[in-house]
Parts: sequence; structure tokens; C-alpha cells
Amino acid sequence: MDIRGQDFFTLQDFSFEEIHYMLDIASDLKKMYLRGESSEILNGKTLAMIFEKSSTRTRVSFEVAMRQLGGYALFLGAKDLQLGRGETIPDTARTLARYVDGIMARVYSHEDLLDLADFSQVPVINGLSDLFHPCQILADLLTIKEKRKNFENLKISYVGDGNNVCNSLLIGCSKLGINISVGCPENYEPLEDVIDLAKDNARIFDSEVQIVHDPQDAVLDADVVYTDTFISMGQEAEAEERMEVFPPFQVNQELLNNALINVIVMHCLPAHRGQEITDEVIDGPNSVVWDQAENRLHAQKAILTLLL
Ligand code: CP
Ligand code: NVA
Repeated sequence: MDIRGQDFFTLQDFSFEEIHYMLDIASDLKKMYLRGESSEILNGKTLAMIFEKSSTRTRVSFEVAMRQLGGYALFLGAKDLQLGRGETIPDTARTLARYVDGIMARVYSHEDLLDLADFSQVPVINGLSDLFHPCQILADLLTIKEKRKNFENLKISYVGDGNNVCNSLLIGCSKLGINISVGCPENYEPLEDVIDLAKDNARIFDSEVQIVHDPQDAVLDADVVYTDTFISMGQEAEAEERMEVFPPFQVNQELLNNALINVIVMHCLPAHRGQEITDEVIDGPNSVVWDQAENRLHAQKAILTLLL
């Protein structure tokens, strides 16, 4: 399976087999790393990392992944580049492509990623846009696979805002035939186009994609309960109105009581403790959030290895 040179905008661009292949490579690289074996597979390769927004996990895991695979990563804050003074995205892309082997970018507008890719000959990786967060979801699928051994007959429930993480979870789950139920307030649903894509994907496996407005319905008998912030980066101006609508969608012990007893609780992080999730739950026995964060490193090693 050869996906070398491809961009990584959304998991929708990859087949069932390709996603499984990425997960297998991620598992293998993780096992090698845990055995203390090093791989220099990206020796001589450089990744440019453009950040328009803050990041802890994405920045550090990409940088460490490149380093551990023998390559090099450059952190480029968008404001520090000439981009911040008005140089265009096409000109930035044309320039960077002359120096580096791949570009990872965290942007506000998904369109900007597409522009970066249109004007550079190197793979462009989505490190989070307003629409999608595919690197996160690949790591999440790896985590679910480790905890549950396979994806058969699973129900994942996402509770909260129908945002970039939710969009990508819908795509990732439906591509692999995992049942997914989203519980979100009215007017905060995931994108209509994404729901349609997910339903089309799910039809192939006869799996379910459900969007409901009652969090208890969403988590009923769920194997996995997933949440994310109620206020994504760039939505700070909506904080007040969102905080009126979202509290019933908090993942707390009472809500979890509706899920399966061995439910695993996931959060892409950063968490806003006391808002979308309680301390009791995120620090509790069902939470796998730190394993999930760790898997960003291993999943991204697979992405980098396969694309670069
Ligand atoms: N989950 C995630 O992408 O975290 P960061 O914003 O810290 O990169
Ligand atoms: N939905 C969040 C994810 C952060 C990793 C945001 O876009 O801010």
C-alpha cells in the first residue's frame, strides 16, 4: 500500500484498508519504541510545522516523532513568518517546499490547508483546522484498538460540541464500521455534509451514525464516551452563549452510568475540568486520556513514515 506523497487533510481521503494499514504501522513503531529499538527511517527528512493556534500535544508529538525517526522538525509560529505580515499562502508554500519534505499546519481555515497543498509539492498534514483533526482521530482509533482489541460491535458516543474533533470522529468511525452516536445541543450539530459522508461510509458496513440532542440517549450502552471543549480555539467570543447551552452535556459520573460498566472515557485534550468533563471522570478508572495523548506520537510516526 503506497500513500507516499499524499496530503493528510481528512481520513475521508483514505480507504478502510489504508486506515488499518496506518494503525498497524503505528502499533509496530510503538512496539519498536517500547523495546528500545530505534528507527532512522526519516533520516535526512525535515518537517515544517506551521502553527496559527496554540498547541501542546500536536507540536511536541510531531517534533519528537521526527526526532525519534532520525528526521528534523521546524516550529514556525504563523505570526513569526512573513505570512504574519501579509506574504501569501501560495508564496509561503512555494518557498517552504524548496526546503522541507513535508508541511504540518494548524490553521483556522481548512481552505488554507488546501491552498498550502496546491502550491507545494510536498505532503501537507492537517494538524487541526476548523473542520477536521484527523491526526487526533488516528491516535484515538489506535487507543480504542489497544483497549478493545478490535472495532467490532463497538458504540462510540461523542458528547458535546459538533466541532472539528467530532467531525473527524464521525469520519474515522464510519470509515471503519464503528457505530457512532453524537449527543449535542440543537444548533451545535456537526456539519451536515460530514454527517452525510459518515452515513454513506456507514452504509457499507451497516453500522450506525446517530445525531441526538439528549446526552443520555447518546451514551446509552456506549463502549466509549468521548468529549472535547465546549469552546474551540477561535470561538472565544461565543463563550457566554455556549456556557448557557452546554452544561447538560458535561461528561460526569451520572451520565456515564448510562454507558457500559467498562466504558472507556476519551478526551482529545486540553480539558476544561468542571466544564465538559469532571475531575472525577477524567481522573477516574475508566479514563484513558493519557494513553490517548501518548498515542499521538505513535500514530503520527506512522503518518510521517508513510507520507514522507
Ligand atoms: N489534542 C490536541 O491537538 O492538543 P494540542 O492542542 O495540545 O495540540
Ligand atoms: N476542538 C478543539 C480541539 C483542540 C485540540 C479546538 O479546535 O480548539
